[in-house]
Amino acid sequence: MRRGKVMVLATCLGSFILIIFYFQSGLSSGEDHFSVGHWNGKQRRNPLQALYDSEQFEPSSIQAKHQMRRELLASACKTYTRKRRVLTTDDLKHLIVDDTHGLLYCYVPKVACTNWKRVMMVLTGQGKYKDPIHIPANEAHVPGNLRTLSEFSTSEINYRLRNYLKFIFVREPFERLVSAYRNKFTRTYNTAFHKRYGTKIIERHRRDPSLEALEHGDDVTFEEFLYYLVDPQTQREEPFNEHWERVHSLCHPCIVQYDVVGKYETLEEDANYLLQLMGVGDSIKFPTSSKTTRTTDGMAAEFFKGINRFYQRRLFNLYKMDFLLFNYSIPHYLQIH
Ligand SMILES: *[C@@H]1O[C@H](CO)[C@@H](O)[C@H](O)[C@H]1NC(C)=O
Repeated sequence: MRRGKVMVLATCLGSFILIIFYFQSGLSSGEDHFSVGHWNGKQRRNPLQALYDSEQFEPSSIQAKHQMRRELLASACKTYTRKRRVLTTDDLKHLIVDDTHGLLYCYVPKVACTNWKRVMMVLTGQGKYKDPIHIPANEAHVPGNLRTLSEFSTSEINYRLRNYLKFIFVREPFERLVSAYRNKFTRTYNTAFHKRYGTKIIERHRRDPSLEALEHGDDVTFEEFLYYLVDPQTQREEPFNEHWERVHSLCHPCIVQYDVVGKYETLEEDANYLLQLMGVGDSIKFPTSSKTTRTTDGMAAEFFKGINRFYQRRLFNLYKMDFLLFNYSIPHYLQIH
């Protein structure tokens, strides 16, 4: 009798210990998942812990800035999104995983994403790459060179969402949009985009198009591009191409709680801050891109000059969440007040 009781107690105790053990390993290092601390033989700290530890005591101005951005995002999400949706694997295609350092990066095209992918390749390359700038741009975009969170199982996904440092880079939405238009529709070499999108845009949104334009789709105007974006039929057919899809829809910032929100406007400073958190501030240099062809606010103003108020308003409504979530104000050149 007594023995039976002891046995039951022992088993209970045993399972109790097991649960605690499992729980703790899930929270701390989780050796079977990723090996913080053993990369290139150097001791390494967990970037997520580094972030929140460093914010505990008198935060520096850059730490305070990132704290404020995070809080603003959280409160905007609370105010402007109604019900919390559950993430599906499809939602995780833009989250790039670094198991070596414990990072998740959501890439947004037209926001230094080539350079961030290069950095992620160096970080995950186990020594294969040294300097991000030496990685050819097209190689950074080869699917399969980097892993995305959608490739993992549910428990692996949850583990990473809980324990990794999640970061994202955003940009003033209309500057990003003008940048996408210039890059995809005004460069002669982008024939794939002209064929796939340009021909369709011209067919639907140009009066009396020439046969040549219909065939090549290589002279889409900014105005026609905007008509295409605000046309309800466009999104009924298929999701926006990632170059003009809203960050809100690409990275789900109200469901995935990003720890660091970087901005294109302060790219160098934010990139260096992140590299330091990752513990690679001394060994990896973030590539600086040429500033000569960069789309600026003045350029965006120029592009929007000829657009009538009605379309300006509809376009603003389309991108509104990106303005609100990331604290961008209504562009001064819009006439929608
Ligand atoms: C939001 O933007 C305003 C105006 O640009 C700025 O003064 C403020 O510091 C920003 N807030 C955050 C949290 O970034």
